[in-house]
Amino acid sequence: MRIKDNPSKIKQSDYSDKLKKISKNIRNRRSIYANEFISKELPDQLLEEILVNATWAPNHKMTEPWRFIVFKGKYLKEYGEFMAHYYQDFYSDLSSELQKEKLNYLRNYPLNAACLIGVIMVRNTKIGLPEWEEIAAVSSAVQNMALTCTAHKIGSYWSTKGVAVDYVTQFGLAENEKSLGLFYLGYYPKDLKSSKKKRTPLSKKVIYLE
Ligand SMILES: Cc1cc2nc3c(=O)[nH]c(=O)nc-3n(C[C@H](O)[C@H](O)[C@H](O)COP(=O)(O)O)c2cc1C
Repeated sequence: MRIKDNPSKIKQSDYSDKLKKISKNIRNRRSIYANEFISKELPDQLLEEILVNATWAPNHKMTEPWRFIVFKGKYLKEYGEFMAHYYQDFYSDLSSELQKEKLNYLRNYPLNAACLIGVIMVRNTKIGLPEWEEIAAVSSAVQNMALTCTAHKIGSYWSTKGVAVDYVTQFGLAENEKSLGLFYLGYYPKDLKSSKKKRTPLSKKVIYLE
């Protein structure tokens, strides 16, 4: 068996010259966190486009194993309070000054987001797919939202911390449903420095068998 570590005919330089829109969009998608967000209204139509694109994700046996809760307005404040309460014990060893500072940071953290989207996996009880397939489909839906955001210069990231998962869980989830956290969306300043996170070269991640 011959193992190659390079695709045969595509030269790296050719490829970068011809970087297509889709590749640019995929590679420009970076997690942008809520502390970078600036307060700006997201038009309803754009939010709808983001959500509709989520539902065009691939999913095994068309179970469409997702639903979403859009948190806006007073819910951003409520989530900030929820986080501060959630982490109160965690910071209890700090001086009261520092504790206050940390909790205030959490309280204010979501306030500039355009909205938060609660991501819920809905297991199909009749078809009984393996859970990982349903998680994979929901993750694809989240990626569709992220790529749509990138195309519209909206920052976004997926938060799966316990606090985010637990916040969404409070909103009446059925037995076959599971919270997968919160997807943050928000505008960011034009001069925001892009993330320095790199990706491992393809040669370390792919082998070609011919
Ligand atoms: C399933 C999943 C869960 C994530 N959860 C968190 C999170 O809870 N907190 C966080 O700061 N980032 C979270 N992220 C974002 C990753 O930290 C981020 O994607 C990674 O650092 C790569 O950076 P990039 O998205 O800018 O390429 C999550 C990403 C994924 C795919």
